[in-house]
Amino acid sequence: MRLVDLPTPQVLVDRKRLLDNIGRVQTLADAAGARLRPHAKTHKSPVVARWQLDRGAVGVCCAKLGEAEVFAHAGIRDIRLPYPINPSNAGRVVALMDRASISIIVDHLGVARGWSEAMSRAGLALDVLIKVDVGFHRCGIDPDAADAVDFIRAVSSLSGLRLRGLLSHAGHGYQAASDDELCEVARREAEMLSGLRDRATRAGIPIDELSVGATPTLRHTASMARQYGLTELRPGNYVYFDRAQLALGAATIEDCALTVLATVVSKPAADRVILDCGSKTLSSDQARGFTPTPGYGAVLTGNGSAIDENLTIERLSEEHATVRARGVTTLEPGDRVRVLPNHSCVVSNLVDAVQLVEGDRVIETLPVAARGKIA
Ligand SMILES: Cc1ncc(COP(=O)(O)O)c(C=O)c1O
Repeated sequence: MRLVDLPTPQVLVDRKRLLDNIGRVQTLADAAGARLRPHAKTHKSPVVARWQLDRGAVGVCCAKLGEAEVFAHAGIRDIRLPYPINPSNAGRVVALMDRASISIIVDHLGVARGWSEAMSRAGLALDVLIKVDVGFHRCGIDPDAADAVDFIRAVSSLSGLRLRGLLSHAGHGYQAASDDELCEVARREAEMLSGLRDRATRAGIPIDELSVGATPTLRHTASMARQYGLTELRPGNYVYFDRAQLALGAATIEDCALTVLATVVSKPAADRVILDCGSKTLSSDQARGFTPTPGYGAVLTGNGSAIDENLTIERLSEEHATVRARGVTTLEPGDRVRVLPNHSCVVSNLVDAVQLVEGDRVIETLPVAARGKIA
């Protein structure tokens, strides 16, 4: 099928770019001497996960148990949940452990005890990593706290749990204002994790794994992995990239694999057109990057090789994107454009399937099998 035959809006994934991104980041991880365990939240597709594994990834990460269930049932054998799953879900985790090697994170002693009791009751041992707050201030223990090692010791002594290591996510890298700042975020993360590992080791608690992961910091982290003994990289967004990664220097426009194909459905003024992709397709995520850029995504030029700087997606309704042109625009109702979304992970969660494309041809329809598995 040709792209012109597709109804719009439609989420397109350029297969070559996707495979190139998978290969390039695997090569980066291999060169850094670290295992790659991609976060599957971006593609939510066991098919793409299989391509990542075939290329050398050791397993995947999922945020939610519902996602993990989809991947485990599709035959993915090693799944890490770097999300503070509550022990009220222990029954589902026990069931999953029949199919796959499962690991979770903990950052709270009461929660860790809950997991310990559940696993001891089931006669199983669950791999756990301790979540460390490296500056994002979302979850995680404070690595500089005087009792940080006491916490690690307490977790390591709980029956039914097997302490594997320390894990962090430098989500604050998305707020960096320059490449230097991003590099500093990556360095601080590596220092904090390795410093805590060293303190734990001196206290007689062996720490095998140091797991870090985020796409903006990836290139810097990879270059310091050996120096700090980082063992695992968990980027997710790199399979598709998006406008934010472009604006954070993590990708070029030629790397961006996911776009939204949209049709101009109205032209109320010479400098304003309406696309048929609203917040139900692009999501309402704002742009991020070193320099703040307005708009809910970037309209690409005809051949998709550049951003049309003349056009700004200034407003979204559920099914409408209002595009403002600087001066007049030649776009007319019926014309089709491609939009580079601000955040590709949330876009793939909004559709049942993405279209894998090569040039102007659809190669395959790829179900987003784990979309909407929010529990
Ligand atoms: C805990 C954790 N690890 C890894 C990732 C992957 O980061 P990114 O989306 O920047 O690739 C995320 C993303 O939200 C995350 O929350």
